[in-house]
Amino acid sequence: MNKKIMVLPGDGIGPEIVTQALAVLNAVDKRFKLGLSFEEGLIGGASIDQYGEPLTDATLAAAAKCDGILLGAVGGPQWDALAADIRPERGLLKIRSGLSLYANLRPAILYPQLAEASSLKPEVVAGLDILIVRELTGGIYFGEPRGIRTLDNGERQGFNSYVYSESEIERIAHTAFAAAQKRRGKLCSVDKANVLEVTVLWRQVLDRLAPEYPDVELSHMYVDNAAMQLVGAPKQFDVIVTGNMFGDILSDAAAMLTGSIGMLPSASLNESGLGLYEPCHGSAPDIAGQGIANPLATILSVAMLLRYSLDMAVAAEAIEAAVSKVLDANLRTADIYTSGTQKVSTAEMGAAVVAAI
Ligand code: IPM
Ligand code: MG
Repeated sequence: MNKKIMVLPGDGIGPEIVTQALAVLNAVDKRFKLGLSFEEGLIGGASIDQYGEPLTDATLAAAAKCDGILLGAVGGPQWDALAADIRPERGLLKIRSGLSLYANLRPAILYPQLAEASSLKPEVVAGLDILIVRELTGGIYFGEPRGIRTLDNGERQGFNSYVYSESEIERIAHTAFAAAQKRRGKLCSVDKANVLEVTVLWRQVLDRLAPEYPDVELSHMYVDNAAMQLVGAPKQFDVIVTGNMFGDILSDAAAMLTGSIGMLPSASLNESGLGLYEPCHGSAPDIAGQGIANPLATILSVAMLLRYSLDMAVAAEAIEAAVSKVLDANLRTADIYTSGTQKVSTAEMGAAVVAAI
């Protein structure tokens, strides 16, 4: 079949977790004879150190030609002092926007084995299965004008623009409605329509499209209430659709419901099905190099890659089943460790998943 995957380990714990995810990918490749090949590239601080910019046009072009992209994480304190436009995070934003990966899917699923690891009571989170659909290439992350300017009185002022065009809202809405159709048929659109015009439009577009999906029940919620509901009664949600910044924040909150952000994978897709797959967590520079990071979010991202971009659902399921099996065997990295379980390293966790495949 020969499918090519671009691998961008990035910074911090990125290389460690990607190494484990690649071992898992190689294991399913062997077992199911998938015919995968790989190309490695630099992104984030690693690319800044090598090329002076967080993502080169050549790497972006190479990624565009692949069938799927696996990314670790970007960023770290050593690059914090750089100007905003060459920081590691800009590499991530450039690949998302350069490949029009507007649909970011962040499933927050509580593995029953991890109910104890959640900071919420087990009965509040048991059975939790939420999909956050985050718009990824628009909103305040990309709106122009943006910058820091000096006013006439000499004071500096920072400014960003929160902008969404109707077509941008429509395409992410269609993604979310379609996802809800395949799940429990409930879609909650999160906005701040009591204050922000851009989200008044967002709400109008969602309402306009709703009749096309009669089997989906659409509701709306202000983002502050959504934050409260997510930690108070998270099981009311099936699919949540929201803009770039609200999605960034709410998906971190949703991640903690599942025990650890180290469990949350993500897929970022464009219209043609090309996808970038990455864990929702960041580069965690504080624990980089210690071999204690949780590789499961990246391993589960690989499963999403197989499912969404390579149409290899059987291999994806094999990975998900293997993850469940190692959790059943009570193996835990430090972030999901609870007493009575066995604490393992990044590499041991990866090896256990490989062994279970
Ligand atoms: C995420 C991250 C990124 C974002 C950062 C690293 C730019 O927090 O993927 O959620 O804000 O989108
Ligand atoms: Mg985030």
